[in-house]
Amino acid sequence: MNLTIRTTDKNEFFETENLTREAFWNLYKPGCDEHLALHQLRSGDCYVPGLDLVALLDGQIVGHVISTKAKVVDSDDEVYHEVLCLGPISAEPSLQGKGIGSQLMRQSIARAASLGFKSIILYGNPEYYKRFGFENAEKYTIATRDNQNYDPFMAIELYPGALNGITGRFYEDNLFFNNEADLEEFEKLFPAKEKGEPRIILPV
Ligand SMILES: CC(C)(COP(=O)(O)OP(=O)(O)OC[C@H]1O[C@@H](n2cnc3c(N)ncnc32)[C@H](O)[C@@H]1OP(=O)(O)O)[C@@H](O)C(=O)NCCC(=O)NCCS
Repeated sequence: MNLTIRTTDKNEFFETENLTREAFWNLYKPGCDEHLALHQLRSGDCYVPGLDLVALLDGQIVGHVISTKAKVVDSDDEVYHEVLCLGPISAEPSLQGKGIGSQLMRQSIARAASLGFKSIILYGNPEYYKRFGFENAEKYTIATRDNQNYDPFMAIELYPGALNGITGRFYEDNLFFNNEADLEEFEKLFPAKEKGEPRIILPV
C-alpha cells in the first residue's frame, strides 16, 4: 500500500479523533473512550507533535498513531526516567489488515529513536507488537503502575542498552484516564453510533 506518513496537522485533530472512535467502537467496551484520551493527550505536557502521525492514502487519512511522554519511576531512589507510551493506534476499519498499522508502527519507532527517546512502552496484543521488536516489559524489570507484569505489557529499546539501569513502575500520563461525564459531553461532537457488546473481552 502506497501510504504517506507524516505528522498530524492541528486542523486534522478532529478527523483523527473520529477515526480512532471508528476503530475502537465496541471493541473493548460498549462504545469507546480512546478518542477522548487522544484529544486530552494533545493538550498535555506529554504531547510530542513529531510523534502524532497520520497515514494518508490518495490524500485521505486512513490511519493514525500517537506516542506521548511517560515515565518509569525507580522505587529505590524515586528517580524518574522518561520513556514513551504508544497508543492509541488506529486503521480505518474497512482497510484493516492491509499494512497501515505496520507502517505507522515502523515510522513511530524510527521517529522516536531519531528524537532521542530511549524506549516505547505499550499495552497491546503481543502477537501483533512482537513483530516490531516489542517484548514483555518484565525482561527489563519494568512493571505497571500497579506493580504487575503480563504479556500485553511490552517495551522496546530504541537503541541497544537504552533500558540498562532503568527499572521500576511505568506511569503513562494521567490524561489517558477520563470520566464518564467528560466522555458523554465529548461524544456530542460526533455522529450518533449505537453501543453494543464488546468484540474483545479483556481479561480481568
Ligand atoms: C491494530 C490496528 C491498528 C492494526 O492495523 P492494521 O493496518 O489492521 O494492521 P496491519 O495490516 O499492519 O497488520 C495486520 C496483521 O496484524 C494482525 N492484527 C491486526 N490487528 C491485530 C490485533 N488487534 N491483535 C492481533 N493481531 C492483529 C492481523 O491479523 C495481521 O496479521 P498477519 O500479518 O499475520 O496476517 C488496526 O487493526 C486497528 O485499528 N484495530 C482497532 C483498534 C485497535 O485494536 N488498536 C490497537 C489497540 S492495542
